[in-house]
Amino acid sequence: MNSEKLIAPSILTADFSNLAQQIRYLELGGADWIHCDVMDGKFVPNITFGPVVIKAIRKVTTLPIDAHLMIFTPDAFLEDFAEAGASSLTVHQEAVIHLNRTLTRIRELGLMTGVSIIPSTPVSTLLEVIEIVDLVLIMSVNPGFGGQNFIPNSIRRINELAELREKYKLNFLIEIDGGITINNIQEISSAGCNVFVIGNSIFGKDNITAATVELKNLLR
Ligand code: DX5
Ligand code: ZN
Repeated sequence: MNSEKLIAPSILTADFSNLAQQIRYLELGGADWIHCDVMDGKFVPNITFGPVVIKAIRKVTTLPIDAHLMIFTPDAFLEDFAEAGASSLTVHQEAVIHLNRTLTRIRELGLMTGVSIIPSTPVSTLLEVIEIVDLVLIMSVNPGFGGQNFIPNSIRRINELAELREKYKLNFLIEIDGGITINNIQEISSAGCNVFVIGNSIFGKDNITAATVELKNLLR
């Protein structure tokens, strides 16, 4: 069992004209990681940013940068994200053909390796790679946008993944992304989740620091 509990605010809905300040507010609230949603407009119906923005974030914080790559053919960019200062790289099972090769390469680059699945992909599709990952990210909304509602069967999916982790005596972190609020975070935590990606429930609030503190306290 891995009982670590971490808050990873997603900057997707942050004020990008003042990113350094927004990250400072997260730090003051005790954020553990900074979650960066990289989107290519193909794998998901939205475009965000790439290594250039990650590099800028690296300059203003010492917190780990958790890069969530919602892009096809991430292999071509792994070095760029590593050089930009990402701490973990999470790729999508659905976007990569040679998943073992991609994850092995991320590990060779010295970063935490992550794999993610969208809500319609069975947890069982990860069976052949769970021994070579540091984290598994379960999407609890259809990726592309912040502020969507949590898909309820994501709890069952976390349970299933936590059972696999027990069965094979592994130690990877289970991360959840999408629709987390003060009303569901404790139930998700009880299911065995370790890392909570949170966008709207922090950046949709007037006080970013206070919202981070409140969510973190619910995990104690
Ligand atoms: C969705 C992104 C999420 C999103 C979470 O595609 O991967 O990280 O920003 O935002 P909320 O917490 O608003 O659902
Ligand atoms: Zn994300």
